Amino acid sequence: MSATIDVVEILRTGAQATDAALERLIPAADVTPSSIHKAMRHSVFAGGKRLRPILTMEAARTIRGAKGLPDGIEELGAAIEMLHTYSLIHDDLPALDNDDLRRGKPTCHVVYGEAIAILAGDALQTQAYEVLAGLKCPAAATVQIVRLIAQATGTVEGMIGGQVLDLEGEGSKPTAESVDAIHRAKTGALIRVSIVAGGIYAGAAGVDVERLTTFGRKAGLAFQIVDDVLDVTQDSAQLGKTAGKDLTSDKATWPAVFGVEASLKDASRLIEEAFAALEPYGQAAEGLRTVARYLVERTH
Ligand code: IPE
Ligand code: IPE
Ligand code: MG
Ligand code: MG
Ligand code: MG
Repeated sequence: MSATIDVVEILRTGAQATDAALERLIPAADVTPSSIHKAMRHSVFAGGKRLRPILTMEAARTIRGAKGLPDGIEELGAAIEMLHTYSLIHDDLPALDNDDLRRGKPTCHVVYGEAIAILAGDALQTQAYEVLAGLKCPAAATVQIVRLIAQATGTVEGMIGGQVLDLEGEGSKPTAESVDAIHRAKTGALIRVSIVAGGIYAGAAGVDVERLTTFGRKAGLAFQIVDDVLDVTQDSAQLGKTAGKDLTSDKATWPAVFGVEASLKDASRLIEEAFAALEPYGQAAEGLRTVARYLVERTH
């Protein structure tokens, strides 16, 4: 018998720990030049779900079991959230998706102008690596985490590469193969590395890293499939971003290829398949399973 774990509680405490770390790690709004620090804070504290840092923490818990969360893990989560927020600021720019609503607030470029928004994204990226350099884990683990995160956000099957494929795919008919490649790269890679890095921070090596990678790959793809579904099924108030945008931008989405119903089935199936990789951890992985279920059951 496995004890049930309260997802609301995991999400609340994980977000709280992440927010406190971000507050501490990002320069205050009145530090010169204040325009960029205000812009960074505008987007970071607009109300994100903090799912990547929460996955980082639950992956660490999976590896450590009864020993609980390792000291300082929230700084790793905060660095990942900085990278995620940078990707969102740039994703919303007029040259990319051209969105004016994000996390329920006007987008960074709408409030601060395009130049400062571009630089705020850049700055969150460099700030993230400064934080990663100071992680409270063994130096070899830090170097491994930095390398994996740089790759996952880079051009070869990483976030930036995925964004390129996403933009270049606009207006042409997506196929199962093309949408799979886009989603694994633009979103899946950062979700996957959030999980793997959390494990490495907690002392995972070899086979643990492989298992978390397998799990993260499937969970990351499922996450983006659900993002596409929500774009079709929810309204802007519920999402905190412009609903229906993928259709008007002629984006390569999972529902565009497979339909909404099959997309939801695919997402659930991927999560179930992902759980197989966590079997050796038993109850220690229950938090990670709970958050993964939420990735596909969420409504925003
Ligand atoms: C949205 O990610 C952008 C994608 C990568 C699809 P989230 O749904 O995690 O957004 P926030 O962080 O909660 O705003
Ligand atoms: C965004 O994908 C992926 C990244 C930010 C890297 P989307 O363009 O689908 O994200 P939303 O729907 O605007 O949040
Ligand atoms: Mg986009
Ligand atoms: Mg977008
Ligand atoms: Mg989307």
